Amino acid sequence: MLHQVFLNLFINAIHAMPRGGTIWVTVAAKEKHLQVVIEDEGEGIPPEFLSRVWSPFFTTKEKGTGLGLGIVKSVVESHEGTVRIENRAAGGTTVILVLPVRPENAAWKPS
Ligand SMILES: Nc1ncnc2c1ncn2[C@@H]1O[C@H](COP(=O)(O)OP(=O)(O)OP(=O)(O)O)[C@@H](O)[C@H]1O
Ligand SMILES: [Mg+2]
Repeated sequence: MLHQVFLNLFINAIHAMPRGGTIWVTVAAKEKHLQVVIEDEGEGIPPEFLSRVWSPFFTTKEKGTGLGLGIVKSVVESHEGTVRIENRAAGGTTVILVLPVRPENAAWKPS
C-alpha cells in the first residue's frame, strides 16, 4: 500500500515538471515517527485548489482520474499517519508525510 503512495506522489511530481527538474526526497527518522518530505520544482498548486486536491476525482489533468491523492490520504491515515501538501516558496510543491513507527519492531535504531 505504501508503494502505491510513493508511486502516486512521484508520478504527480513528474507530471508537474514536463520539461524535467529535480525531485528532492528527505527522510528523517525520529523515535516515534518517520517523516518523508517529497519536493518538486514544478508548476505548484493554485492556492484555491490546495484544499480540493484530496477529493476523489479532482484533477487538472486531461487524462487524470483524480484518485491519486485520495488513495495517498486514505492509505496514510489507515497507517495512523498524516500527509499534507504545500507550495514551496521557491516554486513547486512539497508533500510532508509522517508515519508512526514502533521502535521495538523497526529495523532501524533511532539516533
Ligand atoms: N506535485 C504536484 N504539483 C502540482 N500539482 C499537483 C501535484 N500533485 C497533485 N497536484 C494537483 O492535484 C490534482 C490531484 O492529484 P491526484 O494525484 O489526486 O490526481 P491526478 O494526478 O490528477 O490523476 P491521477 O493520479 O489519477 O493520474 C492534480 O490534478 C494536480 O492539479
Ligand atoms: Mg496523481
